[in-house]
Amino acid sequence: MACSHWRAERRCRAGLALLLVAALAACGPGRRGSDPPLGATGRQTAHGLPELRNPFAGDAAASAAGAQIYAQRACVTCHGNKLTGAMCPSLVNQRWVYGDDDTTLFFLLRDGSVALRGHGYTRSGQDPQVGDMAGFGRLLDDHELWQLVSFVRAQQLRAD
Ligand code: HEC
Repeated sequence: MACSHWRAERRCRAGLALLLVAALAACGPGRRGSDPPLGATGRQTAHGLPELRNPFAGDAAASAAGAQIYAQRACVTCHGNKLTGAMCPSLVNQRWVYGDDDTTLFFLLRDGSVALRGHGYTRSGQDPQVGDMAGFGRLLDDHELWQLVSFVRAQQLRAD
């Protein structure tokens, strides 16, 4: 058990190295999305972030587009092709590291887990931390980030 966890951790780190290469290749300054992000309700969360709602919630086309991005943008490298977390946390179990609301998931995908903790989020501690999730805001625009949220949620529903 300890061994397989150790192996998962190593693979996760290998994934992080791969991601760094992808991020350097993208090389664009700043973020691709808008500010405030697409889906802003105009309210603020307890963490001082703009509260967001996925504008594509329940949209099957958005989820299908998210599936493509998931495969192309290295998500699959760390979270596995069934999203069960071959190397990093499962995206289809009932446990969420920082929370499962739209705002949290969007900012986790856009800015990464270090930035979330910078906003006062704490890890739930139910899953061992194998690494940090990098932000994808330089590679993906708001629309694409929401498509990923739609895809992850659709897979979650399917796993129940
Ligand atoms: C380099 C490995 C890596 C890549 C690539 C990666 N992630 Fe992650 N992801 C992680 C790690 C590690 C965590 C947990 C962070 C923590 O524990 O603080 C995480 C957490 C998450 C979570 C929260 C899971 C939960 O149970 O709360 C979601 C959702 C997620 N990632 C989606 C994605 C998507 C979508 C992509 C592609 C855009 C992606 N990840 C790419 C490593 C990665």
